[in-house]
Amino acid sequence: MTDQAHAPAIDSPRPALGLDDVIAAETVLSYVDGAAGELILRGRPLDTLATWRFEALLALLWDGLAPEAMDADGIRAALGPARERAFDMMTPLLPAVHGLSQVEALRLCLSVLADTEATSHHLLAVAAVPVFAAAIARSNAGAAPITPDPSLSQAADFLRMLHGAPATDDKVAALDTYLVTVADHGLNASTFAARVIASTRAGMFSSVTGALCALKGPLHGGAPGPVLDMLDAIGTEDNIRPWLEAALGRGERLMGFGHRIYRVRDPRADVLKGATARLRDGAGRIRFAEAVEAQALTLLAEKKPLRPLQTNVEFFTALLLEAVGFPRDSFTNVFAAGRMSGWAAHVMEQEATGRLIRPKSRYVGP
Ligand code: ACO
Repeated sequence: MTDQAHAPAIDSPRPALGLDDVIAAETVLSYVDGAAGELILRGRPLDTLATWRFEALLALLWDGLAPEAMDADGIRAALGPARERAFDMMTPLLPAVHGLSQVEALRLCLSVLADTEATSHHLLAVAAVPVFAAAIARSNAGAAPITPDPSLSQAADFLRMLHGAPATDDKVAALDTYLVTVADHGLNASTFAARVIASTRAGMFSSVTGALCALKGPLHGGAPGPVLDMLDAIGTEDNIRPWLEAALGRGERLMGFGHRIYRVRDPRADVLKGATARLRDGAGRIRFAEAVEAQALTLLAEKKPLRPLQTNVEFFTALLLEAVGFPRDSFTNVFAAGRMSGWAAHVMEQEATGRLIRPKSRYVGP
């Protein structure tokens, strides 16, 4: 008798193993239309939010979900002291991050935030990431951390804590655009992870730490650093097609292309491309990247005709974050600084439902 013969009768249809198209939550936060290439955040198309400051986006995202109503100015005023609180909590941890990747170091720092912490949890979670990420990047470069300036906006202070000097207005605006653009994106893997953990009532910091673990993977938030590695490895215009053909021939994935939901161009890509182009010196790097993008799209259409593969958010994320001065091994942490706003909103939304997320598996064993 084979193992198969012992398998119990199962009448449910075979599930999509990646949960494609499964509706697992209701949300007021964001809607991703993969066929039309549209992202809506609380009723507003992304391109109408592209010039918003991050704090204004936080006020929009958290409206009606956070325990206290706050406008953008109130949030900016509250984030400053929360960054200082995060800095105090981080200082004893910094020696322990040596030898870890930057995202693993961020995971270590986030895990010290107690779910019993007195500071408003969604504010502290969002305030903490730039403090931790900047200190980790500096520590990697052998530099001491820089204390937050609570009078600054989140984006301005993030760049100041990273570089040790005030950032120019165009760089702060570009980082604001980035943080807004990646703030929320439906039920992506990390957001789903946050909601599953929140549904057990584990608390905000446990939920968002789990979300970061999901973000870390190269199929999710770990791609933008490798996009720059790819551009560097290609090097010259003449080498674009041979390099890409060889990579695809080896069965490799081209970083910054493809998406589970979008079948057309990721709308976030153009917002970030525009923000990068507005930076001084941004245009030169973009010209080479555009040439790589065009060849990659041609080759992907030739080699994978059954699967529409288009440019995703990570491709121009890489150029923007490079242009404002983040080291490439910190890119996933900068992504987390933006996405934390969405994770926190989803945690609050999930907690309000009070319902444990507990799907079933289809047993196919003996
Ligand atoms: N380069 C080459 N081929 C690709 C790529 C790519 N970037 N993406 C998908 N494919 C191919 C696969 O090899 C597969 O081909 P096959 O059918 O011949 O085996 C086919 O397209 C379908 O691939 P899936 O894995 O089913 O697609 P999925 O929806 O799971 O993938 C993903 C989405 C993970 C983003 C994928 O496109 C990928 O790995 N991209 C590169 C990494 C990347 O850019 N990640 C960032 C995503 S954006 C974000 O999360 C914020």
